[in-house]
Amino acid sequence: MMTATDLRHKFLNFFKDHGHAIIPSASLIPDNDPTVLFTTAGMHPLVPFLLGETHPAGKELTSVQKCIRTGDIDEVGDSTHLTFFEMLGNWSLGAYFKTEAIDYSWQFLTDASCLALDPSRLAVSVFVGDNDAPFDEESYNHWLTKGINPERIAKLGKADNWWGPAGQTGPCGPDTEIFYWVGALPAPTHFDTEDKNWVEIWNNVFMAYRKEADGSFSELAQKNVDTGMGLERVLCVINGVSDIYQTELFSSVIARLESLSGKRYADNTKAFRVIADHIRAAVMIIGDQHGVGPSNTDQGYVVRKLIRRAVRFANQINCTDNLATSVASIFVDHFSSVYPEIASNKDKIINEILEEENKFKKTLENGLREFNKYTASLTGTEAFGLYQSFGFPLEMTMELAREKGFSVDEDGFNTELAKHQELSRTASAGKFKGGLADASEDVTKLHTATHLLQAALRQVLGHHIFQKGSNITAERLRFDFSHPDKLTPEQIAEVEQIVNKAISDALPVTYKEVSLEEARAMNALGVFESKYNERVKVYTMGDDSHYFSREICGGPHVSNTSELKSFKILKEEASSAGVRRIKAVVG
Ligand code: SER
Repeated sequence: MMTATDLRHKFLNFFKDHGHAIIPSASLIPDNDPTVLFTTAGMHPLVPFLLGETHPAGKELTSVQKCIRTGDIDEVGDSTHLTFFEMLGNWSLGAYFKTEAIDYSWQFLTDASCLALDPSRLAVSVFVGDNDAPFDEESYNHWLTKGINPERIAKLGKADNWWGPAGQTGPCGPDTEIFYWVGALPAPTHFDTEDKNWVEIWNNVFMAYRKEADGSFSELAQKNVDTGMGLERVLCVINGVSDIYQTELFSSVIARLESLSGKRYADNTKAFRVIADHIRAAVMIIGDQHGVGPSNTDQGYVVRKLIRRAVRFANQINCTDNLATSVASIFVDHFSSVYPEIASNKDKIINEILEEENKFKKTLENGLREFNKYTASLTGTEAFGLYQSFGFPLEMTMELAREKGFSVDEDGFNTELAKHQELSRTASAGKFKGGLADASEDVTKLHTATHLLQAALRQVLGHHIFQKGSNITAERLRFDFSHPDKLTPEQIAEVEQIVNKAISDALPVTYKEVSLEEARAMNALGVFESKYNERVKVYTMGDDSHYFSREICGGPHVSNTSELKSFKILKEEASSAGVRRIKAVVG
């Protein structure tokens, strides 16, 4: 049996022997990209270098990158989806291109000294071409030279054979994907892309384009290669198992859960898988070089949800032991020899998970008892009560409700949450002005003003402006954004004037609930990896066709910008390196 350790070494050494420099995995928390919460692919930390900056290690690189994808979290529990995964990759930063990349992939997959996969079980897909980029004839022809039958080469469009950008703008391009047949032998001659027995194992992206903020594609001066192969999936394929959780990466955790719960994995696959996946992801986020512990915001909120959901499923299979010591410690041991940060953060990882699960366990049973009293769909206030009194993340309440065939009023929950946050902020600042209703109205107006401000900053300063932080009290908004220089008095005046014009134009404020993919296609600004469940709200200010601002956001907002009356910037200052801060008021 090939282990994960063998596979990582084999991959890195193969590319090292072919002139690539081995680079360490970057952090799971992206350094310079506020549009996503987590690193989602090996190319993500390499974006500046794909755009032409010089990489200190050279033009040919290879790595095993830690990745988190939260968009798939609802799928966790089946046999293939994971929140945390490792991606094996090789890169050419303007050095070799398509034919060499295909040669490397073919050799690594089929050579007896590498993975020795049977070529008669391989199929590929290439980009068919559209208005933005032509048919990838070069890759198509090169696959033929490998002896791949034309029947085994699918030609597909952007939805299948185009990758990137990782955020809203950035490097991207056509790709060619390699599939392995896991069904009964012999493999069919024709590659039917709908047949699930063809499993995608490796993606070669030819990053020769850049997606711009207006949705158009421009050609990059530097033609790059970005490849990604999922370690866990390849491990399954090589070892002939169809369930990721049966690979050596998870088998000892599954065995431990069986002995703790006295239940069998085969009878409880979903609960076992959710616990294993979620605790593993929590270990990797907390133990990261920029580690984040459980909290109520951003990455911390994801960690909290992961741990709490794992505890809920552990409760379901009667596993009352601490997951931190029984399960997390197994992952810590495995990853300590791969990622030095896990070894050095060992105690922190165990302690933070332990603290969070103990905190949550105390209220879980009471919360479930309360939840079980509901005999119909939950109002926002009821869901908020479960959150506030028992620490039930909204998504967990929604999942429990789904299991009973009920729904939950999400908007109502978010309105309650916004009111509550405002109440505690004003109360702790000791300045209760006009009661909660007034305060939350002011906050809503300032929230809308924040969207107008971001849109105006992007008009005046450029599309590198992204939100880095926001804090609103009843008195003022505070908005942090990516920009290297102090704003000139003229720029400040221009931003103010643009926002005031948007207010006097009395723009309608509307929202649509859409999937993340639709939000991306609508060119909405915002965090694309932040949501536990995939549906998001996209707020538009202005007409649908000529909008002034469009962002992913939970709300709430005013219904017309005229309600803001006027806008004034009080202060512009540095917040941290490369981040500026504006404080402003409305009314
Ligand atoms: N960026 C591509 C992917 O994530 C290839 O590395 O699949």
